[in-house]
Amino acid sequence: MLMKNSAHLSSISMPRLIYGTAWKKDKTTELVIKAVKNGFRGIDTACQPKHYNEAGVGEAIQKLISQGIINRNDLYIQTKFTPLNGQDPLNIPYDRKAPLGKQVSQSFEVSKQNLGVSYVDGLILHSPLENIDRTMIAWQAMEQIYNLGGTKQIGISNCYDLEVLIELYDASIIKPTVLQNRFYRDTDYDNEIRQWCQEKKVIYQSFWTLTANPQILSSEVIQKAAQTYQKTPPQILFRVLVDIGIVPLTGTCSDAHMKQDLDIFNFELHQSVIQEIASLFT
Ligand SMILES: NC(=O)c1ccc[n+]([C@@H]2O[C@H](COP(=O)([O-])OP(=O)(O)OC[C@H]3O[C@@H](n4cnc5c(N)ncnc54)[C@H](OP(=O)(O)O)[C@@H]3O)[C@@H](O)[C@H]2O)c1
Repeated sequence: MLMKNSAHLSSISMPRLIYGTAWKKDKTTELVIKAVKNGFRGIDTACQPKHYNEAGVGEAIQKLISQGIINRNDLYIQTKFTPLNGQDPLNIPYDRKAPLGKQVSQSFEVSKQNLGVSYVDGLILHSPLENIDRTMIAWQAMEQIYNLGGTKQIGISNCYDLEVLIELYDASIIKPTVLQNRFYRDTDYDNEIRQWCQEKKVIYQSFWTLTANPQILSSEVIQKAAQTYQKTPPQILFRVLVDIGIVPLTGTCSDAHMKQDLDIFNFELHQSVIQEIASLFT
């Protein structure tokens, strides 16, 4: 279940389904251990204590490695730089008064410390800044981290404006290879953006995939496919997304759901079913 993005770095493989670690607080370590033991190889976190316990993710990784369950190189570890407006003002993991570029490098050092790793596989800008000039300052700091071998890929999140993406793409030296966005009706499921991503070989990661789409999960076509294939509606939706090139994030806390989510790689949907379901969000 690995995906290569050969346009940029031929050695990089991103798992086709990623375990998300937001909002897990003191349960983070045990849940990440469970996720990896169940078979997840991609882990998404952020240097944003408001929503993520990044050190808890690191503790899990270190335990898994020291117990011989996994090697560092078998994991795809992705973290984020979160600008000031996304941080809890009382708990900012870098110097709030430092220049933006410095904040990015400070945040990355904290991430490495938290995770106990010498490099990450993906470093994501959590959201664009207030204008393209500021976004590029943060991006250039990320490019520097990339050039020094600190991360294998760089990407952006919460970018729902194609023009901003194009500006970033055109102005950057190291191009974004990941876009992590909320997948929902209000943005027309990022149709235009996803098409652009496909052209530019940018991997589109989805979040809010289940929570924001109850109407899709209860649609007749998904319900029917669930019955036909003897799978749950979330499994059918995740499988379709993977089939059309999206990498969904799942932050499930349930052991059964972890197993079900990973089980999507054990069956195949008929092309006509994929197309019919995909037409719900195209
Ligand atoms: N870039 C950003 O700004 C941003 C924002 C939000 C999230 N994220 C990332 O995305 C990850 C996922 O977050 P999310 O917002 O998509 O929500 P989520 O944390 O994955 O929650 C989804 C809901 O779906 C349920 N679920 C999962 N698998 C299921 C299954 N097979 N069957 C039925 N229910 C299932 C979960 O319940 P159970 O726990 O009971 O399974 C949970 O209630 C986060 O952990 C984070 O890493 C990023």
